[in-house]
Amino acid sequence: MRTDTPVLTKLDNYTPYPFEIDQVHLDFSLEPTATRVRAKMQVRRVSDGAFVLDGQKLKLNSIKLDGTPLAESDYVVTDDTLTITKVPSKFVLETDVTIDPSSNTALSGLYISGGRFCSQCEATGFRNITYWPDRPDVMSRFHVRMDADKAAYPILLSNGTPGDTGDAGNGRHFAEWDDPHPKPSYLFALCAGDYDVWRDDFTTMNGDHVDLGVYVDKGQAERAKWAMESLKASMKWDEKRFGRCYDLGVFNIVAVRDFNFGAMENKGLNIFNSAYVLADPDSATDADFEAIESIVGHEYFHNWTGNRITCRDWFQLCLKEGLTVFRDQEFSSDLRSRPVQRIKDVMRLRSRQFAEDGGPLAHPVRPDTYGSIDNLYTATVYEKGSELIRALTVLIGDEAFNKGMQIYFDEFDGTASTIEDFYSCFEKSSGRDLSQYRRWYSQAGTPEVTVKEDWDEAAKTLTISLSQKTPPTPRQSEKKPVPIPLRTALLDGKGGHADAEGWTDGETVLVLDSEHKTFKVKLAEGADRPLLSINRQFSAPVRVRRDLSTEALLELAAAETDPFNTWDSFQTLARTEIFRLLDEPQSPPDSELVEALADAVRHYRSDDPAFAALLTALPDIGELFQHREPVDPAGLDDARKRLRKALAENLKNDAEAVLSEPSPTPFKPSPEQAGTRALRSAMIGLTGALATSDAADRLKALYEAAPNMTESLACLRTLVPLPGAQRDAVINDFYEKWKDNALVIDKWFAVQAGQGTADDAKRLSEHPDYDLSNPNRVRSVAAAFAMTNLAAFHARDGKGHRVVGEIISKIDNRNPALAARLLTSFEQWSKLEPTAKASAKKVLEDLRDQDLSKNAQDIVARALE
Ligand code: TRP
Ligand code: ZN
Repeated sequence: MRTDTPVLTKLDNYTPYPFEIDQVHLDFSLEPTATRVRAKMQVRRVSDGAFVLDGQKLKLNSIKLDGTPLAESDYVVTDDTLTITKVPSKFVLETDVTIDPSSNTALSGLYISGGRFCSQCEATGFRNITYWPDRPDVMSRFHVRMDADKAAYPILLSNGTPGDTGDAGNGRHFAEWDDPHPKPSYLFALCAGDYDVWRDDFTTMNGDHVDLGVYVDKGQAERAKWAMESLKASMKWDEKRFGRCYDLGVFNIVAVRDFNFGAMENKGLNIFNSAYVLADPDSATDADFEAIESIVGHEYFHNWTGNRITCRDWFQLCLKEGLTVFRDQEFSSDLRSRPVQRIKDVMRLRSRQFAEDGGPLAHPVRPDTYGSIDNLYTATVYEKGSELIRALTVLIGDEAFNKGMQIYFDEFDGTASTIEDFYSCFEKSSGRDLSQYRRWYSQAGTPEVTVKEDWDEAAKTLTISLSQKTPPTPRQSEKKPVPIPLRTALLDGKGGHADAEGWTDGETVLVLDSEHKTFKVKLAEGADRPLLSINRQFSAPVRVRRDLSTEALLELAAAETDPFNTWDSFQTLARTEIFRLLDEPQSPPDSELVEALADAVRHYRSDDPAFAALLTALPDIGELFQHREPVDPAGLDDARKRLRKALAENLKNDAEAVLSEPSPTPFKPSPEQAGTRALRSAMIGLTGALATSDAADRLKALYEAAPNMTESLACLRTLVPLPGAQRDAVINDFYEKWKDNALVIDKWFAVQAGQGTADDAKRLSEHPDYDLSNPNRVRSVAAAFAMTNLAAFHARDGKGHRVVGEIISKIDNRNPALAARLLTSFEQWSKLEPTAKASAKKVLEDLRDQDLSKNAQDIVARALE
């Protein structure tokens, strides 16, 4: 059993590094089991303090200071540092180390994937490559030379601009790369191997030429086409929206199979999980095309928000991630449908971030302590971080926001900055004091806003009383009020807005910046009581509490002029109804509500099929979970299915009508076609929800006729929970058809783990194609089961918890970052009903008593706290 308490890193302890390293030359001699790395750095003292470098699992061959080899007594090496006891104020340090990429299963540092070298340095992978102050505020100019076997590794890539190449003897060759932009070590990258390349180019608005390349597995170049289109669209969008141009002559993307996250923004050499690069019309879904576009955008946008302006320390992670998520969401909104994008982003926020914020792993967007930096790449830092910037745009207005962004780019270019630096720009541009707004960054928990209305018929005034409360979170029991900008409108019930004194077109932003606040609005002479539409477009990441009856909510939904709120009214109605059905197991679903929801679907069916599809999606268990404690996910799942079945019965003829039309051909990943397919997929799903005896036949026929992956997968997904010959046939057919396409087989695993029992998950984790060393495959079983199949994962027999616990302990000694991520699926354990709660606790305690990695320990300890 582990007894050592994890060491916490604290924001308050930040001190600048006492040295600057203006330049570094890195020389790699690449061999899978023994790669030699020589580093030569120009070091300058800038303040008092010891000269300490980070380094882990490095074999030190030699070390020289100003050309003279150091004696062992001149330096101290520990498991993770190298300290030189006495150094001059300016010197050249040369180190020579050997590393073993072939044994790097953690995928941090230099490793091998698909027989090729690749690197991952964020957050602290560079210390597995060479000795270096591995912190983001030490920025240096990197010059790289590498040599490798020419036949096995014909392509040699690193950051920046390519330089000399040539023969290196013994069947080897070399290449040089120079990055003129000083950067922190976490943005270093190196890739070497045999790839096919999809090439293109781009001319910036300044007329500079950029060579673009997407490097993929042999034979897959065509499948990089969409990623390339997305890259060019991103480059154009950042110029137009933020005036930001690309700043090198080369931009490359490399796709790798084994990768812990989605992608990485290394300067000029982004490295991607191949799932977010490869796509073709036959094997990729619309969701895949959309995700590629958004992640390519995200990584590209980091070039300014992350790379040119980086983070002073890892506490500032949201400075680059929250801002870059905001930028990628805006990019997608501009390219696709803004309301549909907003709804999808909020669905994700509510099911993941709100859950995190309400559980034992809750932490502020900018935390002030952490146990393990890898565990800080959370929904809170990314998603809530983005919401805070979006809410800032509502609070200060677009003009001040845009001006503030330009001040930020001008003032902080080339620096390692903080959230305070960032906000100083908006204080300048808006002329406002934003210190209270910054509380959002240091306070965990989702604020709850209670809304009360009082209509004075004689005076024609509506009084809106707002109050806020943020629930306590671990180690933060006291919460202060935060400024909450709520986009608000008064609806006239006839499809328009009521005339309200001092508001523009019946709309305004109400800012709730204290615990309680009252707003009085005067309406025009003769006005009827207006309906209040609040937090439109989800302008602030809060939970709104209103005491509205079903009738009032239905009336509001019908009067809405904001598509987000239309969707959200139905979500609230559906959620309330699911809880009623949970409490009244004998009671049928409310037919009036079902009819209204079905009518809304019919209303939008032809004009906005993507929106209609979203209306059919009832709140998922992950979200419902947060509204009750103790909670029984299986009961919730059952209640949700009853409502869904009623909706499916009401929409039966519509489903038939939609599905009898042909699917659009030829396939294009356009938002229009994707919208049509989203509705078709929704109708396929509802066909399964009918659970009639002929549904399986119908779905098998639809599967056989499906002309694209979006619909084939929708049929497969819908059939998986319907046991029988049709289901088995389709599962087998799908496998046989796609067994050579790893990304499609990931989906095949995920649809089964995402809907099966714990036994199914276990069986899948024993399938010959299951692969412990491939994070995508592990996630397609373990994360699909534990994070999207809550009824089975949290089943009372405790099997789900045990199966996932076993998978995690197997993964942890190979890949701690992945194990820790999977462990977060236990975060809601204490909210479960007593039986499942006990079994989850037992699995966590058993894990705690094993010799887990530091990353996994950190999650287990906080979950059990
Ligand atoms: N910075 C990356 C992004 O959000 C994500 C990232 C952080 C990452 N750490 C990583 C990716 C480790 C891969 C491995 O764009
Ligand atoms: Zn990012």
